[in-house]
Amino acid sequence: MDDVLVRLLNNDDISFVHELNVMEGWGDTRRDIERMLEYEPNGCFLAEVNGERVGHIFTVNYGLLGWIGLLIVKPAYRRRGIGSLLMKRAIKYLLDRGVKTIRLESVYKIANLYRNLGFIDEYDSLRFQGLSFEHKLSQSNVFPMREEELGEVAKFDEKYFGANRFRVLSKLYHDYPHLCFVSRLNSKILGYIMCRERMDGYRIGPWICSPHRPQIALNLLLKCLSVLEPKVKIFIGVPAVNEVAVKILQKQVFRQYSKSIRMYLGVKIEDEPEGVYAIGGPEKG
Ligand SMILES: CC(C)(COP(=O)(O)OP(=O)(O)OC[C@H]1O[C@@H](n2cnc3c(N)ncnc32)[C@H](O)[C@@H]1OP(=O)(O)O)[C@@H](O)C(=O)NCCC(=O)NCCS
Repeated sequence: MDDVLVRLLNNDDISFVHELNVMEGWGDTRRDIERMLEYEPNGCFLAEVNGERVGHIFTVNYGLLGWIGLLIVKPAYRRRGIGSLLMKRAIKYLLDRGVKTIRLESVYKIANLYRNLGFIDEYDSLRFQGLSFEHKLSQSNVFPMREEELGEVAKFDEKYFGANRFRVLSKLYHDYPHLCFVSRLNSKILGYIMCRERMDGYRIGPWICSPHRPQIALNLLLKCLSVLEPKVKIFIGVPAVNEVAVKILQKQVFRQYSKSIRMYLGVKIEDEPEGVYAIGGPEKG
């Protein structure tokens, strides 16, 4: 292998990361990448060969659960072990901080990279694409999310996601408060939805709702779609185990265009993916 230096990634590297992201067609904005670095400034790494930037990886530490994402190596440097080296650095970073379970979402083709490092397949994570459309909701129990509710929302979310992600939800909220909605009945939260910009449209997620309340889940989606410009591209990632979410999306004319594999390393988490109608993103769960 070439002499590879792995160092901490910093703000000066954002343009490089964004360029590779655009090349891969992942659709993240510069701001998405900045937010990832803000979540874990000591847990994002960059690989260099002879002073040239050649790859990167990002982590998010949720406590007992950690996430790894945004792993890219420049095409000319692939199959030389750099991806695995970045993975080992990211895994070490999270384990050193007491994380017991590491999760990620793998492109099908390269899943062996992760399996070789001990990751185990969990379930398919489906990618859907559709278009926004106007929809007038009469009575829906869906309200604009307020900043003061974020703590309660994160608590509600924990059971389905498997960890408290207040930090991540707060930053998303602060960037897109007008695209966050919550559903309540008698002051109890039944579900919530968040949405953010992509280069080529919007990404919906997290979209979390009780598995026993499919109508509320649908209302959250319709509310969110109806505040966007009509006919703009919408991207959603859904755990295949949430069959209700898949049915809702198919009915709203979303089509599946690819899938990834959700994988984990370490302790298996007993969460409820049936309540996860959309992941926040493959890079952070
Ligand atoms: C995925 C990626 C980061 C791998 O980087 P890399 O430096 O080439 O990875 P490594 O050299 O450490 O590969 C280790 C193992 O992963 C697997 N692997 C890597 N790339 C693969 C490919 N294109 N097809 C099949 N298996 C692959 C192989 O098992 C490989 O071992 P081998 O070379 O001995 O067969 C790189 O291909 C990339 O940037 N791809 C585009 C972005 C992407 O898909 N990122 C991952 C999202 S989950």
